Order: sequence, then C-alpha cells, then structure tokens
Amino acid sequence: MAGRGSFSNKLGFILAAAGSAVGLGNIWSFPFEVGAGGGAAFLVMYLIFCFILCFPVMVTEIAIGRKTQLNPAGAYAALGFKKWKILGILGILSGVVILSFYNVVAGWAFGYFVELLSGNFDIGNQFGSFIKDVFKVGGYAILFMLATAFIVSKGVAGGIEKASKILMPTLIIMILGLVIYSLTLDNAFKGLSFYLVPDFSKLSLGVMGNAMGQAFFSLSLGMGALITYGSYVGKDDNIVSSAAFITLADVGIAFIAGLMMFPMVAYLTDGTMEGAGQGAGLIFTVLPGAFQSLGPTLGVVIGSLFFLLLSFAALTSTVSLLEVPVAYIVDEKGVRRSRAVWIMAGIIFALGLPSLLSNGYSAFFSSFITYVGSENATSFMDFAQNVANDTFLPLGGCMISIFAAYAWKTKNLNEEIAKGYPGYMGSFVQKYLNFAITILCPLVLGTMFLLTFLQTFFGVNLF
Ligand code: PFF
Repeated sequence: MAGRGSFSNKLGFILAAAGSAVGLGNIWSFPFEVGAGGGAAFLVMYLIFCFILCFPVMVTEIAIGRKTQLNPAGAYAALGFKKWKILGILGILSGVVILSFYNVVAGWAFGYFVELLSGNFDIGNQFGSFIKDVFKVGGYAILFMLATAFIVSKGVAGGIEKASKILMPTLIIMILGLVIYSLTLDNAFKGLSFYLVPDFSKLSLGVMGNAMGQAFFSLSLGMGALITYGSYVGKDDNIVSSAAFITLADVGIAFIAGLMMFPMVAYLTDGTMEGAGQGAGLIFTVLPGAFQSLGPTLGVVIGSLFFLLLSFAALTSTVSLLEVPVAYIVDEKGVRRSRAVWIMAGIIFALGLPSLLSNGYSAFFSSFITYVGSENATSFMDFAQNVANDTFLPLGGCMISIFAAYAWKTKNLNEEIAKGYPGYMGSFVQKYLNFAITILCPLVLGTMFLLTFLQTFFGVNLF
C-alpha cells in the first residue's frame, strides 16, 4: 500500500467512517431539506432510504474496499473488471465536486464561530451579506482547505481517529442539551408536529428525490468514500455491524438536529413555520437568535462552541472527501502522498470559487442556470449540489449494487462479508442484503434516479 495509513483498531475505522458521515449533511442540510420538503413526510422517506436502500450499499462499499485495499477506480479494476473503472472515476469526480462547495459551507460555519465568539448575534440577520462577502468567506474557506490538506497529508490514521473520539460525543451532548432547551420554548409543540407528524399530501417526486440524495450525501455513500475507507478495515472485523453503527449514528445525529431546529423555528415564527423552507440559510439564520435568547454570556459560549464543533464535524468529512481523489492519484498514478494532497486541495479549492461567488457576489454564478420547466434561476452552488448529491450519488449507489451483484457476483461479496461475521451465511441478514443488492437497489434507485433526473433538469414529469 503505497504510502497509506491504516487504522490502529476496529474502533478507529468506525470512528473515522462515522466522522465522514456526520458533518454539515446532518446539521446544515438535513434540517433545511426537511423544511423545504414539508416536514415529517420528508423525514419518513429519508429514513426509508437510509435503512432499506443505503445500508446494503454501505456494506457493499466497505466490502469492496477491504477486499481490494484500493481507491474506487483501482478497486473495480483489481477485481478484474477494467471497464467498471469508469464508475470509480465518476465517484471520484462526485467527491471533487462535493468538496468544492462543501468547503465553502464549512467556511461559513467556521466564520459563524468567529462571529459568535465576538458576540455578534445579529449575524443571523446578516447571513445574506455575510455569504456575499467573498473575501471574508473565501478566507475562511482557504483556512478550511489548508486544515483538511494538512490532516490528509499526515495519513488517515493519525488525525481523524483522535479527533473523532472526543469531538463527536461532545457535539452530540451539545445538540441534546439544545434539544432540551428548544423544547422549553413557546410554540415548541408546533415545531415538533411539523417535524414528526407526516402530511403525506406533501410527498412529491421532487421531495422523494431530495430525500434520496440527502440519504446518500449524509451517509457519504455512492462515490466510493467508503471503498477508500473500507481499504483500512481489518480482515476479521464485522462489516455489517460496523455499517449498522455508522448508519445509526449518522441518522441519529441528523434526527436530533431536527429536534433541535424545528421548535426553534416555531418559536421564532410564532408557530407559523414560515421560513422553514428557506433553504441553505436555515441553521445560519435561526440559530444565532436562539443562542441570543440564552443571555449574553451563555449565548456566546454555547453559540461559538456549537459552530466550532460543527466545523470539526465538517473537517472529518472534508478529510474523507479529499482522501478519495488523493488515494486515487497515489495508487494509480504513483504520485507521492504529500504532493498528491496539495495538488488536489489546490484544484478543488479553485473549483469551489464559482460556488463561493454564487451567493450574491457574482450575478452570473448566482443565477447560473434555469432548468427547463422552472421559473427560477438556480445558483452555481445549488446546481453543483443537484448534480452531485441528487444525481451522481444515487446513480453511483445503483451502479455499485449492479456491479456487486452482476459483475463481481453476490457469492464473492458474501465471502468477503462472512470473513468477520461467522454466522452470516444463511442468516436473514445475508438474505436481505442479497435481495437488496440484486433487485431492490438497482430497481428502486435506478428508477428514482431516472425520474428525478428528468424532472429536475428537464421538467419532464412522468408521473
Ligand atoms: N456525509 C457528509 C456529511 O453529511 O456532511 C458529506 C460527505 C462526506 C459526503 C464524504 C460524501 C463523502 F464522501
């Protein structure tokens, strides 16, 4: 393994994979997707996608990674399927696109830490001008990319393993504390019912497509991140229980982030919930006001600590996003690891510039494209998210299942899984995973991908 790290123990892999999964997807995009998708109906779809369809894909990605010990593109080739290398490359490209805009949002989170530390609670009202200030936000984004590159250049094992162990539990405790606080606010119950009582009339193809994209994005699936991380898993580790832990941790944290957010939204909107669907600014506009209501001292401490921990959660995700293209050029092109890291970090930062400019600074990137059949223009950043999260990741997940079932074959997948799981063969888990990989995932993910792709970009509604 050319210049690659390895995890010291099983916990190391799980924590790092959970660190990859838990990030802005849980605390920033999950609540705003729920808000935009009409509340609980979105939540139900999201849970179905995570547990029924994404979980089998996760097990498969980790198994391919452990079997081949390679990056996504190298992995398919190493199993003897050179043509499938394209799927790995598609995944790597998705990761590059995701990191390019993710790093910008991570810069917002870090910027909010600084603002709240200085007691600027009004930043919630200034969100629009904050994200438009490209020099300030760009500075934070540069810092973030430098920190990511530094950690990746040190190898996977060292940095992430240590950081996740302390910071993730701290973040969870903090969110739980905020859940308790937000439940004491006026109108909290209205927020909860928006979040937890489904109104299925709100369900549409668009909402289902977003729930699918969000599930893949939040679980770091569909692009081979977990193939890359799977290559660091020990031979006798149980992949199924590791994947179950990662899925539960990720979904659990998103769920409690929702419990924290929606009572706050209800409180700030006098129970009307108007503004819950405002999009990417949701946590950034709502949370500062809620922190302010804790009083000046406590508000500064809790508010700044929250955004600091969110930045760390984002960092363990950006590290995994950068690791994928880096592992690719280290393994396949023989580039030295440290050089690979800095080259990729530079390229991805540059690719993120249009996203940085697309929040009001540049009219061109802010109204980048108008999809066929849509009245409003979409910004470059939203476009990048639509392409990567909602399109490439589910397509990647569908193709990974097809690869495992029909090219590599379920028998080989089962053998790999069984290595760390003695009772696996013949168990219900085996039967379900095999059914999901051969039939359910290709069929459902493939159909959903096609329908949402046509609808989002071309306004074609086949329903
Ligand atoms: N799962 C991360 C989050 O929820 O913030 C984002 C992400 C990381 C997506 C790594 C994909 C990935 F490969």
